[in-house]
Amino acid sequence: MRILVLGSGAREHAIVTALLREASLPGGAEHHVIAAPGNAGLAADVETVALDATNGAVVTEYALENDIELVIVGPEAPLVAGVADALRAHSIPVFGPGRRAAALEGSKTFAKRIMDEARVPTGRAVRTGTLQEATASLDEFGAPYVVKADGLAAGKGVLVTDDRDAALEHATYWLQHGSVLVEEFLEGEEVSLFLVSDGHTVVPLSPAQDFKRLLDGDAGPNTGGMGAYSPLPWLADRFGSEAEFVEEVIETIAVPTVRQLAKESTPFIGLLYAGLILTEQGIRVIEFNARFGDPETQVVLPRLETPLSGLLLAAANGSLASHPAPVFSDQAAVTVVLASEGYPDAPITGRALSGIDEALTVPGVSVAHAATARGENGLFATGGRVLSVVATGHGFAEARARAYEALSKIELEGGQYRHDIAEKVAR
Ligand code: AMP
Ligand code: GLY
Repeated sequence: MRILVLGSGAREHAIVTALLREASLPGGAEHHVIAAPGNAGLAADVETVALDATNGAVVTEYALENDIELVIVGPEAPLVAGVADALRAHSIPVFGPGRRAAALEGSKTFAKRIMDEARVPTGRAVRTGTLQEATASLDEFGAPYVVKADGLAAGKGVLVTDDRDAALEHATYWLQHGSVLVEEFLEGEEVSLFLVSDGHTVVPLSPAQDFKRLLDGDAGPNTGGMGAYSPLPWLADRFGSEAEFVEEVIETIAVPTVRQLAKESTPFIGLLYAGLILTEQGIRVIEFNARFGDPETQVVLPRLETPLSGLLLAAANGSLASHPAPVFSDQAAVTVVLASEGYPDAPITGRALSGIDEALTVPGVSVAHAATARGENGLFATGGRVLSVVATGHGFAEARARAYEALSKIELEGGQYRHDIAEKVAR
């Protein structure tokens, strides 16, 4: 198949790696994969093309001229910009929801309304348009305070704090850009579950856990994600098995949400990312995203033992109900993100990056590039989250040891990473 992957992060590199690996799976095929715009790691593995991935007309023209048989949209920006709609209008199979369904991620108000209509369990929230309303809601809910920007905010829109002044300051800032949600604080383990949807049928992938805060011990600011692991062995203690947990999410969250969107003539065709929190009162949705999570993708896809492209194409074509269910290995997978100095507020870019080849000599290790480029003197970092080191192993102790050994070989001045990813499951 000729497959176009839109995006330039470690998530897209992990998707492309999974597509290329299909050639070695039983019944798998070789594909011609093109990444747009890509990064240095993607450019080393596949053809890359510098096009504006958020421009529907540009992407459609490229897909038509290059006989693309499937487009996989990585990030949220092209979805919210309507790129999937433009492709569908030309009957090009695309994995990713249209603009209106992508509002599930792009507008927290929209997501809350859909959840209310579908009776999906989530935290109570109040949408506020003025500082006065926000203040009243913060005082009503009490500490810890949860304040969220309504629209896309690249991981910077959410603040969870005990400091009332900081909550007010965050609300004041984001009110300049639109409305702000004040939400009830939820406590418990977080789980990211990817659900592949063709608009009607929902197929789950294996759960993962993401580490959102910058620093060890969940200290520091929220980020796009600093590491992840999969599967989640502790789910069995609470739900009997991973399968029983997944079944509950499908029944109480995924199917009602997908059904509600279909009812409103905005079918969700793509990856429904359920960000969940397991409270004492039950499973609650903290957020939906309309695309694969980053860095969770880096630990979920290496465990996939059946072809990814067939599954995503079946979703794009509306034939998931008759497609074989994906199968996952019981290997443990761990990923640790290497970020630039200053991330997330003001990452310092342009610094030399080396040692990746040495890192790749560690067994079970791969490196998913994100903000990397190749210059005259070799690789350099171009943004906040620079790359994800991914390791698999027989158990988390092995996977984790491999990931950190590989990371110790990579050099980036001022580079920062968490040291406690998957620590509690590796004991
Ligand atoms: P979000 O971007 O909505 O996923 O929020 C980022 C992170 O903030 C989540 O992964 C949680 O760790 C935290 N968070 C968001 N909403 C809540 C909430 N209602 N209660 C507690 N923590 C939250
Ligand atoms: N890892 C969180 C996200 O992709 O939004």
